[in-house]
Amino acid sequence: MINVVIFGAPGSGKGTQSNFMKEHYKLVHISTGDVLRDHIARKTELGEVAKSFIDKGQLIPDELMISILGDVIDSHKDKAQNGFIFDGFPRTIAQAQALEGLLADRDMKLNCVVGLDVPDEVLIERLVNRGKESGRSDDNLETIKDRIAVYYKVTSPLKDYYCERNLFHSVKGWGDIDKITASVWAVIDNSL
Ligand code: AP5
Ligand code: MG
Repeated sequence: MINVVIFGAPGSGKGTQSNFMKEHYKLVHISTGDVLRDHIARKTELGEVAKSFIDKGQLIPDELMISILGDVIDSHKDKAQNGFIFDGFPRTIAQAQALEGLLADRDMKLNCVVGLDVPDEVLIERLVNRGKESGRSDDNLETIKDRIAVYYKVTSPLKDYYCERNLFHSVKGWGDIDKITASVWAVIDNSL
């Protein structure tokens, strides 16, 4: 079993690389952003709460996000013999600590954290372009800038957190997609 966190700023390619990884390693892909957007689309109570944060580029409160993740892991357990990709989680130190517990409670552990390193101007260009078609309420320039600011303030400190645990591996995340994919897979292969 292999459990991977794909880490990076908004627009760094977490979803793109997760799609390749899940096919290659036969993993279950959990994107917390996708989970929340699904609740918004289904107009659930949680979706309503999530929308109020997502539209401002702010994070959903830790306690809520952590309990959602536990439920999502359990709902996919049967299909996840090979393991999970966590995309967009953890985003705070509290979430990282919680993930350790959520995995340990289920006799699992994290194998590696792959960080996609992409310059801000590339992130903004990608997300502004995607916003023309994505329909994502947070893909507009103002909210994109807020999302990136939140990333630097509360999420990027996780790099040190995972470096201290010898789990963090940075990969150049811009340019040729195939080269990025090869670098991501090399990190995972080395962590097996
Ligand atoms: P989330 O859905 O996770 O969004 P994000 O982190 O802002 O990242 P994106 O999904 O926008 O980008 P990505 O890194 O997946 O890149 P992608 O592959 O799409 O979270 C949304 C919101 O939900 C958060 O702001 C927060 O409010 C809430 N939330 C989610 N998780 C939470 C948590 N744990 N705690 C609290 N709140 C949470 O690529 C982007 C674009 O670039 C695409 O168009 C793609 O085609 C293109 N692209 C990718 N790679 C390349 C390349 N190499 N070259 C050229 N283009 C590329
Ligand atoms: Mg994504």
